[in-house]
Amino acid sequence: MHRVVFKGTGSYLPERVVPNSYFETIVETTDEWITTRTGIKERRMIASGQAMSDLATPAAQRALEAAGVPPEELDLIIIGTSTGDMLSPSTGCLVQNNLGAFKAVAFDVNAACPGFIYGLAVARKFMQDGSHRLALVVGGEIVSNRIDFEDRATCVLFGDGAGAAVLEAVPESEPVGLPGGLLSAHIRSNGALWELLYVPGGGSRHPPTHEMIDRRLQFVKMQGNEVFKHAVRAMTESAEQALASNGLTSADVDWFIPHQANMRIMEAVAKKLDIPMEKVVITVHKYGNNSAATIPIALDEAVREGRVKRGDLVLCCSFGAGFVWGSALLRY
Ligand code: ACO
Repeated sequence: MHRVVFKGTGSYLPERVVPNSYFETIVETTDEWITTRTGIKERRMIASGQAMSDLATPAAQRALEAAGVPPEELDLIIIGTSTGDMLSPSTGCLVQNNLGAFKAVAFDVNAACPGFIYGLAVARKFMQDGSHRLALVVGGEIVSNRIDFEDRATCVLFGDGAGAAVLEAVPESEPVGLPGGLLSAHIRSNGALWELLYVPGGGSRHPPTHEMIDRRLQFVKMQGNEVFKHAVRAMTESAEQALASNGLTSADVDWFIPHQANMRIMEAVAKKLDIPMEKVVITVHKYGNNSAATIPIALDEAVREGRVKRGDLVLCCSFGAGFVWGSALLRY
């Protein structure tokens, strides 16, 4: 058996900053409402013409640089995204080409907000037997072109971005000077609740037609308060499962990185887990909810700022459309 260690992290945010005041000019809302209900003050959005691989590639390059791994050595590339460049091919293949990582097998995992956690879980399965030594896992999303700028209940919540991690499989018996790495990854889904959060148009159910666009089916549909309740419950349970399966408690956690959807969701989950807010890494105020990107971006920032240090126990959990949810516990 092999353990999966974190070699390096990276992230990329589009330059365009969109403050809450922008939404005051297009829908019936206020900076005060958005701030108190979500904790979001501003978010990043792509410039026209940018696609998912344009964000995922620099995030990956930064992670590879931090890891000291040349792209040609990668064995596996997994992109957690539900907003890839095209319906086909996968964004994984496009990132592989951009990086020149032609030894790797590359594919996408569509798991909405927990896309990065799902990516870690899948990578771990490939790496535990040692058959794939070096892996790149990216969580990235461009939500800004899937939101209805006439719907105040959703348009204020989201942003764009990408984060990445380079992982290495090392034999359990071999001391490599890096702490334990990915201790566990638990992923779950419940398709019975898909209608609480979904994007109906653009796939095979409602293919791109003028009528589909006129009905605004290309945009996110969400029952926000239902999503809120399910998110708190599922993220808490998944985080508890991560700790229990490793014989640890929340008192052992150095840093908690929940999905950054809404400050109130994070506060509620931290409270249920009995983790003080000083241990919670928060980026939602400046980046909004960039879905699969929130956790790897927060992890990368916390590492680069020297908050998350080698050997720290980091607990991550997420929830999103599907419903899908999950947790990852890592000894960074
Ligand atoms: N500005 C002003 N008023 C608004 C806005 C807005 N931007 N959006 C909604 N409202 C109004 C509603 O119309 C409603 O008005 P009414 O009482 O006259 O009908 C009122 O505010 C309350 O609406 P609620 O939906 O009950 O407000 P709530 O306190 O639940 O907050 C929110 C809404 C922020 C969307 C919250 O439910 C939430 O964050 N849910 C989680 C959704 C989420 O994060 N989804 C992302 C994908 S999944 C994930 O990442 C976990």
